[in-house]
Amino acid sequence: MQEKIKALCQKFTTQLSLIKNLQELEHLKVEFFGKKGIFQDLLLFLRTLPLSQRASLGREINQLKEELLQLYQQAFIGFGQAELSLSIAHEKIDATLPGRRLFMGRKHPLGKLKDEVISIFSSLGFSVQYSPDVDSDWYNYESLNFPPDHPAREMQDTFYIDATLLLRSHTSNAQIRVMERTTPPVRVIVPGTVYRNENISARSHVFFHQVEGFYVDQKVSLADLLDTMRTFWCRLLGKQIKMRFRPSYFPFVEPGLEIDISCAQCEGKGCSLCKENGWLEVAGAGMIHPEVLKNGGVDPELYSGYAWGLGLERLAMLLYGIDDIRLFSQNDLRFLSQF
Ligand code: DAH
Repeated sequence: MQEKIKALCQKFTTQLSLIKNLQELEHLKVEFFGKKGIFQDLLLFLRTLPLSQRASLGREINQLKEELLQLYQQAFIGFGQAELSLSIAHEKIDATLPGRRLFMGRKHPLGKLKDEVISIFSSLGFSVQYSPDVDSDWYNYESLNFPPDHPAREMQDTFYIDATLLLRSHTSNAQIRVMERTTPPVRVIVPGTVYRNENISARSHVFFHQVEGFYVDQKVSLADLLDTMRTFWCRLLGKQIKMRFRPSYFPFVEPGLEIDISCAQCEGKGCSLCKENGWLEVAGAGMIHPEVLKNGGVDPELYSGYAWGLGLERLAMLLYGIDDIRLFSQNDLRFLSQF
């Protein structure tokens, strides 16, 4: 029996030394240690022997099995590592290829513009306040000098919720609310979404964004309005621009003005952006009507104020040459990723 064990060990080591890959190693494993393998046969043979011989022979066989299994495991690790490095060597890695670009989210162009407007006015001493999107007819219209049947209401087609509630048609709805809660000096800007019952087209939408601004204090004059506006537009566009004011009508200001700036693209010479007239209409403004001050609890004998309102979409369209207002709300990445 001793001879047999020795021969077995010899056979295993010789076969192992001839093995060239993991597959051949697995065959060897099955041949020796498998369910119908050599060691299993030996154990079956062991059972046929008288009890007195079984114990010592069994120990010897088990010891041999352990030793051979260890040899097998060493070989397995060796072949495994070799195969791994072989597969890495076959993998083609081209370190000169450009990496994959991570897609980063970014701010919406209107949000960016709004931030710029806020930062310029903040540096001029204006604070940011907000007014509700759903508001009463009083704050959106009546308190601003639009009596119920006033034709000026038709300038802004309104979404009414019921007889007294509506979706604000302009951010001027903040004027009275802010005056009610603040004693002058009041110097605020109010960014927000506004809603109008209009047909959706390249030029108009049912919702868009405005920034309202106003200043109430003693002796506020039209000259202050003009100066603030000039400073703002020059800073926003990063260059000196010409400005002009045209008389206009808004019920809550007197006098009312339309503010034009020299065309940002052609600098006044005339181009498609300014429709060849050299000017871009950028905001409505005026001196706050004494009745409006009164409605806000401010004494028009002591105080005066100016107000202005601008549309963010319109401004972005002028600044970036965008010709369709619908692009701002379509979430098309081809558009948004240009900013
Ligand atoms: N609220 C006006 C609109 O939406 C814009 C406006 C004009 C605001 C004149 C003002 C202003 O504060 O003085 O058309």
